Amino acid sequence: MAAPVRTVVFPAAGLGTRILPATKAFPKELLPLVDRPIVQYGVEEAVASGIRRVVLVTSPGNTMTGAHFAPHPALEAVLEERGKTESLAVVRALSALAEVTTVHQAQPLGLGHAVLMARPEVGDEPFAVVLPDDVIDADPPALRRMTDLFAAVGGPVLLVERVPREAVQRYGIIDAKALGQGVFEVRDLVEKPDPATAPSDLAIVGRYVLTPDVFDALERTGADAGGEIQLTDGLRRLLEHRPLHACELVGTRHDAGNRLGFLKASVYFALKRPDLAPQLRAFLTELD
Ligand code: G1P
Repeated sequence: MAAPVRTVVFPAAGLGTRILPATKAFPKELLPLVDRPIVQYGVEEAVASGIRRVVLVTSPGNTMTGAHFAPHPALEAVLEERGKTESLAVVRALSALAEVTTVHQAQPLGLGHAVLMARPEVGDEPFAVVLPDDVIDADPPALRRMTDLFAAVGGPVLLVERVPREAVQRYGIIDAKALGQGVFEVRDLVEKPDPATAPSDLAIVGRYVLTPDVFDALERTGADAGGEIQLTDGLRRLLEHRPLHACELVGTRHDAGNRLGFLKASVYFALKRPDLAPQLRAFLTELD
């Protein structure tokens, strides 16, 4: 039987170039969608999927992302003194949500390199990777479906979604054999292919359940033309040694790492909030 997935890695050391200048000094993963930072959505998804050990991979100067999940005694004392019980509960729940540690990626050498930085924290057991930009609303949570499939197949599982042909060059794309019920066996995978030569329209969308042998595969993976070690290239190596599976997303995904995606995600999650939806809807209608 496959070992349980206890740890999730959040690569969050990117330069945030798609949403500058907001991210010039401020970590992209802390930009809020309504009132929660982007990364908190991913952590909540992991916790709802039974994974409570979180490893944040951030750039060295970033102390804020870890602090978001840590206790804040001074703030708690003030909220308590002022009788702000609801806010106090929210702040305390956040630091109790998960067991969060931070590791640093000194240089932005790619997603594969970021995952490698988490190796000492992960150890020799299976783990998940969540790319915080991909914010997913799904019931059951996407990661939960993936860990269930991982338990069934006993090997790595990727999350995929069909994207328009012209968009394949923004994703890792798989070549796959459909096994039914949204499950695929991966035959090959390629990072950001040309639409003309892409093997399919099935894009990897920011969730992975991996086995620890991926670390050795990544160690042996060279940098691409842009000087980055790609996770997709590491997985391609892994595929030489063991089967990989993918499951298709059932739910709604937003790419909150670009301007339009960020705005859409903000409106989407605000419209799910009973305290905000009626007034926001009225406002949007007024604008029309
Ligand atoms: C990364 C991965 C890519 C994946 C994508 C999902 O690309 O390299 O394979 O499809 O995330 O969001 P990035 O968005 O960092 O360029």
